[in-house]
Amino acid sequence: DDGGPDPEKHHGHGRGGMGEEVKRKEDKRFITGRGNYVDDIKKPGMLHCEIVRSPHAHARVNEIDKSRALNLDGVVAVLTAEDLAAHELATMPTLMDDTQDVLVNDKVKFQSQEVAAVIATDRYVAKDGAEKVEVDYEVLDPVVTAEEALEADAPLIRDELEDQEDNHIFDWDVGDKEATDEVFEEADVTVEEQMEYQRLHPAPIETCGCVADWDPGKDKITVHLTSQAPHAHRTLFSQVSGIPEHKVRIVSPDIGGGFGNKVPIYPGYVVAAAASVVLEQPVKWMEERSENIQTTGFARDYDMTGELAATEDGIIKGVRTDVLANHGAYNAVAQPSKFPAGFFNIFTGSYDIEAAYGSLTAAFTNTAPGGVAYRCSFRVTEAVYLIERMVKVLAQELDMDPAEIRRRNFIPADAFPYESATGWNYDSGDYEKALDKALEMADYDHYREEQKRRIEEDADKLIGIGISSFTEVVGAGPGKSCDIAGIEMFDSADIRVNPTGNAVLRVGVQTQGQGHETTFAQIVAEELGMDVDNISVEHGDTDTDPYGLGTYGSRSTPVAGAATAVAARKVREKAKSIAANELEAAEEDIEWDRESGEFHVAGAPDRSITITEIAAGAYMNHPSSEEPGLEAVNYYDPPEMTYPFGSYIVVVEVDRETGEVDFEKFVAVDDCGNRINPMVIEGQIHGGLAQGIGTAMMEHVTYDENGNCTGGDFMNYLLPTANEIPNFETGYTVTPSPHHPIGAKGVGESPTVGSPPAIVNAVVDAMAHAGTTHVEMPMTPDVVWEALDEAGLSL
Ligand code: CDP
Repeated sequence: DDGGPDPEKHHGHGRGGMGEEVKRKEDKRFITGRGNYVDDIKKPGMLHCEIVRSPHAHARVNEIDKSRALNLDGVVAVLTAEDLAAHELATMPTLMDDTQDVLVNDKVKFQSQEVAAVIATDRYVAKDGAEKVEVDYEVLDPVVTAEEALEADAPLIRDELEDQEDNHIFDWDVGDKEATDEVFEEADVTVEEQMEYQRLHPAPIETCGCVADWDPGKDKITVHLTSQAPHAHRTLFSQVSGIPEHKVRIVSPDIGGGFGNKVPIYPGYVVAAAASVVLEQPVKWMEERSENIQTTGFARDYDMTGELAATEDGIIKGVRTDVLANHGAYNAVAQPSKFPAGFFNIFTGSYDIEAAYGSLTAAFTNTAPGGVAYRCSFRVTEAVYLIERMVKVLAQELDMDPAEIRRRNFIPADAFPYESATGWNYDSGDYEKALDKALEMADYDHYREEQKRRIEEDADKLIGIGISSFTEVVGAGPGKSCDIAGIEMFDSADIRVNPTGNAVLRVGVQTQGQGHETTFAQIVAEELGMDVDNISVEHGDTDTDPYGLGTYGSRSTPVAGAATAVAARKVREKAKSIAANELEAAEEDIEWDRESGEFHVAGAPDRSITITEIAAGAYMNHPSSEEPGLEAVNYYDPPEMTYPFGSYIVVVEVDRETGEVDFEKFVAVDDCGNRINPMVIEGQIHGGLAQGIGTAMMEHVTYDENGNCTGGDFMNYLLPTANEIPNFETGYTVTPSPHHPIGAKGVGESPTVGSPPAIVNAVVDAMAHAGTTHVEMPMTPDVVWEALDEAGLSL
């Protein structure tokens, strides 16, 4: 092995390898309208499924009358829990081993829960039919917030569970409580802040859906599914349905964004599959937007208290946090089963903190289930928000510059690999370098001066500067500690080089817009010396692709990217033997040159051979010591996760009269180790920052006191558009991951994880001189105006 690509000079060698801005191969079909999404799939005889949903958040279902719906021309069937029970499909397991009704069995537990399903020849007829299903509800008192849920006299939501006496799900804690308490007792300074990470929805452009097609001739079901994890979904489908796994084919075609929303299994999938088996016809189920927001996996909903203990000169000695988590009506969080609070335990962030302790209580409520990793690695977003907000609170308390306090506490660059107080093994980092770069790009000193000037002049618009120097943790496994429903979180790649010198790479992860068809081909191009145009990437079909755990938690590059590099190196190893045969030299005398991508005889660079010539040799003149063909598979279990990081600096102008916030400057410096495609990374950062702005400024799934979802459509759940998005200035540093074969870390989620605290810190900073220490998200103008008013700054 030649040690992998050199971060100082990897530039693709002109073949589209590492570091080249290769244009996305997939864009040709997307921008010419040739994408193929689940809803584009039409099959002969295909039926349509519509779900009847409960208008109530908490209600007993006394009776369901199907007759009016069944009388409608075109309605083929109406399914209820009773019908599904006949096929043992009335319930399904969640990813956290809870049991969720596919269709309501007895009691509705959240508004818009699935009560019945209408199957019809046409979607409109199915919709009309759904309106004609009559359900007799007995309305019960709902419990909407986690706080209410844990009150002694709160109505019991999960009364079907034998041992469940209240709405409490679990308690979790991490760290050394005693040592942390001690540090707090002895500290010069302590600060505390309460903050809510509001309920969000991933809101992908494409909602969830499927086309299930049972083939009675082959006893096989093919399900085209909006899935971020097709292989794991196949295993779960098989377990739930009893259909043997080799008779289940899941196909994820083009996916219009996932962001964690397409990791869980939803009742609609099960109903469509059951209907297809029973009716022996293909059945399509496709959500509407409000169904997607109101019923499928939400994210966040953590009510957090943060505390820091520090010395007078700002050295953080301890961090403590306590969280109340609203999990909705079922424990359907999508995260590795051994981590009930996900990776929240990375709440020590980028800082070298002696003692840390975190605790969390989770509760059932009459709201939709979820807790998915929305463009984040399992609750790392909440952890980053907590620590980055708390550092700002501490800086204010000590009257210190928030950049300086960070610098004093960063894990030093030479301390890696570093084990945090909560037991996480950071692979590499250079936090100060990223912060310094961001400060320079943001013209920090100038804006500090401008801020002072505005305060002195009692200006109508205040300046606030917010910093976030975050660390992410991405790339789950290793399999020994991370799993989905028991399946270890490894990933896979299979490279097959054809006789004419081009190749097909099949991977176990599933792109939803991240550009894998380009960047994964670049890894092969880099490692085999092939041209990127000669490599196709396939994914999303469980019949042909190697088993993998899917794409979420920015795990594709750290895990499947690593599998791709290792598989390519295996191919290269075999290629060496073929090269020796072709060049009539001993194998140990054959060297590979990364720059030219060719194999040559040591000391005789003229005696060289390309991978295209080797491919021909593998099929037409293979050495007797080797099997014919040129192919390799790798199943990669990462030894550790990767820890990308960055420093974001946001400058805002806050209008004291209206509470409006304008972005003056938005700087994002990221470090994702060795970079495969800078242009793709830039796109990932832009998209993630836009989602961070949505989080900080406008998005919130709200409920009223009766459990009605009042933020359940795009009129009420506000997403940022191009109008709300400022100009981003991006920069980067490169700190390779020491354990990843190509030194890469994940990047897709960093901006969504890292930006909300920078934005909130900026808005708080604008009012800090008047004593404001926190403003809750989403910071809509009314929220900001209230905060200004409370600080005596409103006009
Ligand atoms: O798992 P997911 O694809 O969402 O996240 P990721 O691994 O962070 O990758 C997002 C996109 O950025 C992919 O196309 C990656 O190959 C690309 N990327 C890159 O070019 N260089 C890196 N060091 C990391 C990711």
